[in-house]
Amino acid sequence: MTAPRPVIFEAHGVSKNFAGLVAVNNLSVRLHEGAVLGLIGPNGSGKTTFFNVVNGVYKTSGGRVVHRGADITDWPSHRIAGHGITRTFQNSRVLLNASSLENVMVGGHLHARAGLAGVLFSTPGARSREAKVKARALEHLAFVGLTDYADELARNMPYGAIKRLEIARALQTEPDILMLDEPAAGLNPRESENLMKLVSELHRAGKTIFIIEHNMRVVMGLCQRIVVIDAGAKIAEGEPDQIRRDPRVREAYLGKGA
Ligand SMILES: Nc1ncnc2c1ncn2[C@@H]1O[C@H](COP(=O)(O)OP(=O)(O)O)[C@@H](O)[C@H]1O
Ligand SMILES: [Mg+2]
Repeated sequence: MTAPRPVIFEAHGVSKNFAGLVAVNNLSVRLHEGAVLGLIGPNGSGKTTFFNVVNGVYKTSGGRVVHRGADITDWPSHRIAGHGITRTFQNSRVLLNASSLENVMVGGHLHARAGLAGVLFSTPGARSREAKVKARALEHLAFVGLTDYADELARNMPYGAIKRLEIARALQTEPDILMLDEPAAGLNPRESENLMKLVSELHRAGKTIFIIEHNMRVVMGLCQRIVVIDAGAKIAEGEPDQIRRDPRVREAYLGKGA
């Protein structure tokens, strides 16, 4: 028996309302260090909104978020990222007119601390920091399998490569928790298979992963635990096999009588 890893992230009764609409309803989620947790639910059930709230994109309407002992509720995104939680977006945030390498370097600006003056006047300190940032970005590009694209403009890259680039960008902030919002969306079966492998490698490299994914094969294959939400509220939580058999989950996905 291995001892359970510590809980490093906890959302307690998190809610988010938009002018009368309850998008996230009293949702509690715990992440154990090194785990891969899945978040699933029908379209519009509040998955992305939950990510947005715990990442400081939106202010909470209620509840608390705790990461490694710090109450990070309603912290600004950059501060949350600096504390070790980074996420990718369902809709790409990649800069199309920048190279992959530049995209990854920008993704890590939190840790780069380049300082505008340093960049403008190119002090020796700034140059050596820049070199470190670049070296780290190249490592992250290699990790996601994009070394050959380092100098390619993002606009010339295939969609599957862009999805990987987003992950390399997120890695540049050296997160301990990586939150992925539908990383396999729009990928063909072979690309999504490769993306699953990449997420498994991240897991093996010690990252804690919280993933929203529509593709059930991806979710069931990757996650040790799955949280299911419907209309913003948790309707089930458990191991993939439990979730597959859960009548409430089937009902939420397939409608009553399924
Ligand atoms: N900024 C917003 N303003 C108003 N309503 C929003 C906003 N963002 C999301 N919603 C609504 O919240 C609900 C949950 O959306 P979302 O979190 O995107 O669902 P999911 O990611 O599960 O598909 C939807 O009804 C959506 O229209
Ligand atoms: Mg979404």
